Amino acid sequence: MISLKAVSKSYSDPNRVLDHINLELKRGDFLYVLGGTGAGKSTLLRMLATEETPTQGILSLFGYPVSATSASTLQGIRRSLGYIPQDIRLIPDLSVYDNIALSVSLAGKRSMTAQSKATINSLLDRLGLSAKRDKPASVLSGGEAQRVAVARALARSPELIVADEPTGAQDQEFTWSLMDLFLRASLGGTTVVIATHDKEIIRRVPKPCAVLKGGRMLLEEAYCTY
Ligand SMILES: Nc1ncnc2c1ncn2[C@@H]1O[C@H](COP(=O)(O)OP(=O)(O)OP(=O)(O)O)[C@@H](O)[C@H]1O
Ligand SMILES: [Mg+2]
Repeated sequence: MISLKAVSKSYSDPNRVLDHINLELKRGDFLYVLGGTGAGKSTLLRMLATEETPTQGILSLFGYPVSATSASTLQGIRRSLGYIPQDIRLIPDLSVYDNIALSVSLAGKRSMTAQSKATINSLLDRLGLSAKRDKPASVLSGGEAQRVAVARALARSPELIVADEPTGAQDQEFTWSLMDLFLRASLGGTTVVIATHDKEIIRRVPKPCAVLKGGRMLLEEAYCTY
């Protein structure tokens, strides 16, 4: 499903942000990605979301090596992904609903079915966003925008969710609503990778974790004790 074999990543600086990372994830696996600020969490997640490619090593998603695959296969991989970037990236002039609907249609659902509309509305309801449904994304608070970004990813019914600090701007109540949605997705067979700093989440929802430090990755496969 996801495989990283000796994956390294460096930018202009010769120091490696990630240095020989190995990781295997199966369908339905749930993994926290931890580490201090600048440890490389977002870099790793951007690679999983195909926004960046490794400098060295092989990253495979759904069995395809991302750096050596055709444009059409890459498009297929992207349609199967739900990515929640750390910087959210909503389209400011589109309504909350249309931001999500656009993402669902880009995932390959040619026309919005009654079911996909119902899925979006139920996610908006679940995340306390029903009253904001027809408002432009530009008027949302930081926490609301972050929840829309989560709804945008989940509404695609992705095979892989890549969530970069998805609860960073939430209060307790919405943190657990979001975690509940991620856990349900994982139980339904979606692979879930979440970068977080939130120790309370890790304590209350014990799952495996990958801890990044100095470019290296320490994997805690049973559950996270970080
Ligand atoms: N596009 C880029 N060009 C150059 N350097 C980059 C780029 N993106 C990230 N870096 C560097 O790579 C390192 C890891 O950054 P990254 O954003 O992956 O960290 P992070 O663990 O997500 O941190 P945070 O917890 O603050 O979000 C940092 O030193 C950062 O400056
Ligand atoms: Mg980050």
